[in-house]
Amino acid sequence: MSVSTATDRVLNFSAGPAVLPLVVLEQIRDELLNLPGVGSSVMEISHRSAAFGEILDDARKRIVALHNVPETHDVFFMQGGATLQNTMIPANLLMDEEQTADCIITGTWSKKNSQDVPFYGKLNVAWDGSDTHFNQLPNDDQLRLTSGAAYCHYTSNETIHGLQFRNPPNVDDSPLVVDQSSDFLSEPLDISRFGLIYACAQKNCGIAGVTAVIIRKDLLVRSGNRLPRYLDYAQQVKGGSMLNTPPTFAIYVTGLVCKWLQETMGGLAEMSRVNQEKADLLYDLIDTSEGFYTGHAQPHNRSLMNVVFRLKSPEMDAKFVNEATEHGMAGLNGHRSVGGIRASIYNAMPIESVRVLHDFMLDFAKKNS
Ligand SMILES: Cc1ncc(COP(=O)(O)O)c(C=O)c1O
Repeated sequence: MSVSTATDRVLNFSAGPAVLPLVVLEQIRDELLNLPGVGSSVMEISHRSAAFGEILDDARKRIVALHNVPETHDVFFMQGGATLQNTMIPANLLMDEEQTADCIITGTWSKKNSQDVPFYGKLNVAWDGSDTHFNQLPNDDQLRLTSGAAYCHYTSNETIHGLQFRNPPNVDDSPLVVDQSSDFLSEPLDISRFGLIYACAQKNCGIAGVTAVIIRKDLLVRSGNRLPRYLDYAQQVKGGSMLNTPPTFAIYVTGLVCKWLQETMGGLAEMSRVNQEKADLLYDLIDTSEGFYTGHAQPHNRSLMNVVFRLKSPEMDAKFVNEATEHGMAGLNGHRSVGGIRASIYNAMPIESVRVLHDFMLDFAKKNS
């Protein structure tokens, strides 16, 4: 039997499910057979048990603490990934078919979110970046917003195209709804500016199976007893994330990742500083490579989470990925719709691993220029 150890691990640049903090994996391993004080694995206990109740409450409270979530908002967990939210948002927030959702389309994920809107009301595409292959984000003055829109949706970090909003768009009075699936908990955020925030966990705050939702309480009345219970935000909040058996193991991992963010990383301001430093390492190299590497996103819209770039030809991209694999790096292939290379450097990616990639890129450019 082979025993895998931390030292055998590759440097995992996958876009998600993605790298987890090693200390979190170690804690999971240590507690897997017997959760301290419980006598069973976290996977074996009832979701109604006091022990799991504490785990759920702890994960929720840690998100509240990390983001300083005000009393005006509820935090809860759901299944169905970010994808179910594409349906739930228009189903709950559009109260009838005459209401309009403004959608800012900056890439694959925000486009997907807009696709369920017409089932419930009117879709207004406030901006669409497809003409430039989703390589930039709009300024506020480019947005064609609807007066009195039921909400405005955007995706803070386009995982595939490597674009990230540094500030939320300014949308006047309509509630701002954001898909933060790939940059949740990566920097401090003023939650009071948002009507709804959602994020699947498998990139920046855990493993696949759980999605965190933060909703402004006054929006819950919009659900208005007209939806199937499971699809109703008000019921989900009332049910305390337990309308059905929640993804217990995934919630446990999210709690551990949040604890790591608080206690090891020192909170979101420090996490954000480190994320900037990691991204700068790669973007500075791309910019000084004299065209050997080309970034996909316009420099002022670059993502700190997903660094998307290409080499001179698809053959060189493939050579790069192959040699990186030989050097112990994985997950660097670009998404099939964009091609090239994508280095995902989420919260849990250590700066030392980014330095290894940086040095490899430098060396690869020297040898192949
Ligand atoms: C920004 C963004 N939104 C939505 C999704 C879809 O998430 P899920 O597969 O959990 O539904 C992803 C992930 O793959 C993503 O990166």
